[in-house]
Amino acid sequence: PSPITCFPHQTLTHQIFPQVGSFNKKDLDVGTGLVGAPACGDVMKLQIKVDDNGVIQQAVFKTFGCGSAIASSSYATELIRGMTLDQAAQVTNKTISKELALPPVKLHCSMLAEDAITVALSTRTSQSAIKDYRSKRSKAPSMQPPAA
Ligand code: FES
Ligand code: FES
Repeated sequence: PSPITCFPHQTLTHQIFPQVGSFNKKDLDVGTGLVGAPACGDVMKLQIKVDDNGVIQQAVFKTFGCGSAIASSSYATELIRGMTLDQAAQVTNKTISKELALPPVKLHCSMLAEDAITVALSTRTSQSAIKDYRSKRSKAPSMQPPAA
């Protein structure tokens, strides 16, 4: 098991948070943000699936950490689904911590979610990155329709 997978927790959060999960990070339409909080050692993985128009179709998370970090990543995935990459880039930890009413000592947990979004978006924020993604996809043999 990877360090970010804690099985009891995963089982638990699967029941509560449907967006717990993983995408294949090698898929060209997937962006992956894997971040850690140095202060507490908690780790968060947030992944997005982006369509051809640069809209986030799906977002999932796996968080090995405190309840606030899990709630922050869960809310973040709900929030950014349906957003364009540019809109998602505007999401800050303030939005997340306000929604969850996090106390000051837990603000860094929402910061972790902001960081995870930023990293997940980092290869997808520019038009050139989207173009690059499209051209890569059209060249990738596995993504071509099977030959007749
Ligand atoms: Fe995974 Fe608690 S069971 S952190
Ligand atoms: Fe460190 Fe929540 S992420 S205590």
